[in-house]
Amino acid sequence: MPASSILLLESDPVAGAGVETILSGTGYVVTRAADADETMRLAADHQLVIIDVVTGVRSGIDICAELRATPSLSAVPVLCISTSDDVEERIRFLEAGADDVMARPFDARELEARVEALLLRFQRSRDLSPAISTDGVVMTRARRAVAVFSPKGGVGTTTIATNLAVAVAARRPNQVVLVDLALQFGGVATHLNLRPRQTLADVVRDDAAMREAELLRSYSTTHSSGLHVLAAPAQPEAAETVTQSHVDRILGTLLDAYELVVIDAGSTLDERVLAVFERADTVVLPVYPEIAALNAMHALLEYLAETGVLGSKALFVLNNMFAREILKPRDVESALGSKVGLELPYDPFIYLKAVNEGIPVVIGAARSVAAERLVRLSSSAFGLDGVGVARPQEERRPGGLFRIRR
Ligand SMILES: Nc1ncnc2c1ncn2[C@@H]1O[C@H](COP(=O)(O)OP(=O)(O)OP(=O)(O)O)[C@@H](O)[C@H]1O
Ligand SMILES: [Mg+2]
Repeated sequence: MPASSILLLESDPVAGAGVETILSGTGYVVTRAADADETMRLAADHQLVIIDVVTGVRSGIDICAELRATPSLSAVPVLCISTSDDVEERIRFLEAGADDVMARPFDARELEARVEALLLRFQRSRDLSPAISTDGVVMTRARRAVAVFSPKGGVGTTTIATNLAVAVAARRPNQVVLVDLALQFGGVATHLNLRPRQTLADVVRDDAAMREAELLRSYSTTHSSGLHVLAAPAQPEAAETVTQSHVDRILGTLLDAYELVVIDAGSTLDERVLAVFERADTVVLPVYPEIAALNAMHALLEYLAETGVLGSKALFVLNNMFAREILKPRDVESALGSKVGLELPYDPFIYLKAVNEGIPVVIGAARSVAAERLVRLSSSAFGLDGVGVARPQEERRPGGLFRIRR
């Protein structure tokens, strides 16, 4: 395999030579760009662009934003090196579209690890890049599973899961399934006004169905949008009968039975949810801008960073469930140590109406800003916008909550 080529923009010759030595020592081919214009010109010929300290009219942040605003360069990852550990500077880079930010001074091994991770992640997105199917619909080649989970209940998990499933099912009728793994009090059927005849409690009693795609499809209930639904058990006590091994087998078979799988994973972290994270390509994590919710998310991310199960699958959605903004998106991002992929606006009426009538926002209020955002989220979570999987995380470990400005 040819060595990956990296384009490096660094105005300071000594610092530039340092980065070049580390990367060429690991086997990468490094090209030094003289200035911003040369970076823009040469970026498409490289697998990664590193923007280090830049002097000149345009700052590193400007150049990063320019690269990201160029559609033909969307598949080239950008790693920015900030001059200090200042969180504001790092957030500015992320806002400009950097895929990762590393602070000076750094250890050679950190640079190597981040470069390798970015190259791998973008290679994966390229492998999953959209293909045009015979009916002209843009689809990813790989089958994909998207889970929605929140460590706190009542923050919009089911609203998001149902809307993103309905939005994508409209493009692929009978090829998308939504599984309600919020097993005790699953709300998917209510949000879609469905009365399922069979649920997951029936599926786990049928060993053959957990193995055979066609049989498993027969347990689903079809929604008018063309979405298939595997409903949660009707009685909360039946949740106990669904084990981690069941969840793993059911998801494996669903990926054979359908092109796309959406999972409402609820808000209870247990081994069944860990099995969901293992199977999912993207994990959508709704957060709402309030300290208790952020604390819970922080604890979840710390735990998952240790298990390594989440990796770069996380896609944070800031769900504004309050009329007034309490924390700013930037505060939420610094608490999470990660960029928020998408923001859902507050609406006093349409979400509530949607649940009460059992008609998801993307259908019942199709022209609303909320619907537009939910459709965008659906495309982004499945990589149908050509962007790939989740928005990359700034770093594995979340930043401290103490940095929140009130
Ligand atoms: N951005 C928003 N603005 C206003 N209301 C919202 C918003 N998002 C969700 N809601 C409302 O909040 C309520 C809870 O939403 P939802 O049932 O999706 O949350 P959940 O996390 O799945 O809850 P549970 O833990 O009970 O399963 C619903 O009535 C929904 O309509
Ligand atoms: Mg729910």
